[in-house]
Amino acid sequence: MLLSRARRQSPRGDPARESVDDCNSKITKSEPNDVTPSRAHTHGDANERRMLSKAVARAMMLRAPTDGGSRIARMAAATNQRRNATMTTSCIRHQFGDDVVRVVDSHRRSTMSGGRGRVAMRSISSSSSGGSGVTEPDAGAATESKPARRKRVLSGVQPTGSIHLGNYFGAIKNYVKLQDDYDAFYCVVDLHAITAGGHDPAGLEASTKTSAAIYLAAGVDPDKANVFVQSHVPAHSELCWLLNCVAPIGWLEKMIQFKEKARKAGEEVSVGLLDYPVLMAADILLYKADLVPVGEDQRQHLELTRDIAGRVNSLYGGKKWKKRKGKAPSGRSRGGDVLLVPEAFTPKEGGRVMSLTDGASKMSKSNPAEGSRINVLDTPDEIAKKIKRCKTDAFEGLEFGNAERPESQNLLTIYQLCTGMTQEEVLAECGSMRWGDFKPRLTDAVIEHLSPIQGRYNEIMADPAYLEGVLKRGADNANEVANITLRDVRDALGFVQY
Ligand code: TYM
Repeated sequence: MLLSRARRQSPRGDPARESVDDCNSKITKSEPNDVTPSRAHTHGDANERRMLSKAVARAMMLRAPTDGGSRIARMAAATNQRRNATMTTSCIRHQFGDDVVRVVDSHRRSTMSGGRGRVAMRSISSSSSGGSGVTEPDAGAATESKPARRKRVLSGVQPTGSIHLGNYFGAIKNYVKLQDDYDAFYCVVDLHAITAGGHDPAGLEASTKTSAAIYLAAGVDPDKANVFVQSHVPAHSELCWLLNCVAPIGWLEKMIQFKEKARKAGEEVSVGLLDYPVLMAADILLYKADLVPVGEDQRQHLELTRDIAGRVNSLYGGKKWKKRKGKAPSGRSRGGDVLLVPEAFTPKEGGRVMSLTDGASKMSKSNPAEGSRINVLDTPDEIAKKIKRCKTDAFEGLEFGNAERPESQNLLTIYQLCTGMTQEEVLAECGSMRWGDFKPRLTDAVIEHLSPIQGRYNEIMADPAYLEGVLKRGADNANEVANITLRDVRDALGFVQY
C-alpha cells in the first residue's frame, strides 16, 4: 500500500524500478531466480549478442586495471563478462550506463570498418588501504570515463544475543550465495542493536565481533565481500537523519515490529525503536543495493525502504535536481533518481524458520525460552537436548504443507536445509517415520551442518588481528561507496558542499 502511494506521488512513476525489472527479465545468467524469475530474452540474434558481449567485455577490461590496485573492479569485470553473454543494449545501458553503450557502438562501428574503436576510460580508484578499489565514478569524472556499475547486495544482522538457525538460513547463507555475482556489503548493524534501550556495552562489543566471525565462518569470503561494522561508516547515521525528514511518521507507526516491540516496552519505548527502519533504509540506500537478502520478517521494512527511496526521488530528484544544472559530487549529471529502489531476496526455504517450542511463531533471539531456538554456536549436547524436547504432534508420519502441522513443516524444512536434500528426497527418506525416529536423525544433521562452521569460528576468534583487519578493510571500502551516495543526496537536497 505504501509503495503504491509513493508511486502515485511520483509524477515520473518509478523509472529505476522499471528499468531494473526490464533488465532482470532479460538477464538469464547469474541471477537468483528465487526473487526474479528470469524469462528467456527475445532481443537480438546470436551474432548480435556475441558482439555485444565482446564489446562490453572489452570495456570492462579497460575499466579494470591489472596493477593489483582494484580487486573489486577486476571481480566486476569478470562477472560482467559472464553475465553480458545474454544482455541487450537496453540492459547494458541500465547496468553500466551510456558510456559502455557508447563503447559497444564504437566497437560495432570499428568491427564493421575493420579498425579499432578509440575509447577513453578512467581507471577505478584504489582504496587508501592499498587494497581493493570500488566501481564508483570519481567526483568530477568526465562523462566519457564513467566506470562500470556492478549490481550490489547489502545486508546485516544485529549483534544482539546469539545468531540462530533462522538468521543463518534466512539471511547469512544467502550472503554466501550472492557474493560471487554481486558487489557485496555485509555489515554488523551495531547501531540497530541499541534501539531497545539500556543495552549492555560489554555484550555489544563481544557480540559485534562474534557476529562478524560467524559471517566469515559461514562462508562469507572477505576477498569477495566487504564485511564491516555499521558504526564504522558514519554516513549511515547522517543519511538516517536526512531520511527522517522525508519519511512520514505514520509510515513508521504502521511497522509490525515496532508495534509489537513498543507494546512490550510500554512507556520506555525509545525514539530509536520507532526510527529503526529508517536507519535500515539508510543502510541499504547508501550502497545503491539492488538486492537485500533478508528473512520474511524484514520484508515490511524493505517495502518501507522502497517507499522512502521513491519519496526522495520524487521530492528531490528528476527535473528539480536537473534544473540546478551542473554535476553532482559523484560526477554524474544532476537529474534522474537520487536513490536506487532495492529488491528483497528471501529464500523459499529458510525465509521463516519457526520456533522449536511453537511451530506457529518464528524462531527469535528475543524469545526468553532458550529451547525455542538452535544457535549456530550451540554445542552438540545443547542441540540434542533442544531437539529432544521440541514440540511435535500426534499425527502419523511426517509431511510438508499441512497447515495443521506447523512443527512437521518446520522440522522437516530444517532437516532439508541442513542436508541440502530436496523436499522429495526428504519425504522419501522420512515421510513414514515417527517423531522418535526422526529426531535423532535431525539432531545428527544439524550437528553435522554446524560443526565445520563452529570449527572455523574458533579459528577466527583465536586470531583477533585477522578479524580486525577484515573489518577495517571492509569499512574503508564501505566508506568510499557510502560517501559518494551521501554527497549526492546532500547535493540533491541543496546542502552546500566544498
Ligand atoms: P535481525 O538481526 O533481527 O535478523 C537478521 C536476519 O535474520 C533474518 N531472520 C530470520 N530468517 C528466517 N527465519 C527466522 N526465524 C528469522 N529471524 C531473523 C532476518 O529477517 C534478517 O534478515 N533489521 C534487520 C537488520 C538490518 C538489516 C539492515 C538487514 C539492519 N539494517 C539492512 C538488511 C539490510 C534485523 O533486525 O535483523
